Amino acid sequence: MTVLKIARMGHPVLLERCRPVADPGAPEIRRLVRDMIETMEDAPGAGLAAPQVHVPLRLFVFRVLPERSTGAPDDTVIGNTVVINPVVEPLGAETHLRWEGCLSIPGLRAAVPRFRRVRYSGVDCDGRPVSAEAGGFHAGVVQHENDHLDGILYPMRMTDFRQMGFTEELARAEELALRLDTARAAWTSAASRA
Ligand code: NI
Repeated sequence: MTVLKIARMGHPVLLERCRPVADPGAPEIRRLVRDMIETMEDAPGAGLAAPQVHVPLRLFVFRVLPERSTGAPDDTVIGNTVVINPVVEPLGAETHLRWEGCLSIPGLRAAVPRFRRVRYSGVDCDGRPVSAEAGGFHAGVVQHENDHLDGILYPMRMTDFRQMGFTEELARAEELALRLDTARAAWTSAASRA
């Protein structure tokens, strides 16, 4: 197995509309899927689409790690999963903003509008159907990875660029906000005692 080089935003392969996989069981597809899983784990990331490793084919891998799962029935922990020739459709019209990063846009995060719930289907390398109704993190990661297959990167979905920043700065800002909240709460309780 091999850790593959990840294309970064600006590389034209990330803007391509990818071709369907003709034979999901072909040895080169099985090898690609194994290498993509290793690359995702190495990064580490929650998902990886074939164009991100310079292969413009319609397949992606993903996982829902325990710390990301909301525990809802449609957002449980999921091990490494491949979806070949996926079809993703929204379940309902409800959307929300979710914070996302992308291995092709390292160091940055942003709030991206996504459908709350989706249904998806495709096949694995043995041609077995892979399908689910997804909510929470599961729904978000599937929409993000499926977008890659149509040459769509998350900034192209954004509506408010104030909600984008370097991961480090956002973490610092969040910590500062927490400290301010604590200080404010302490001040309020001191003031109410006075
Ligand atoms: Ni991505």
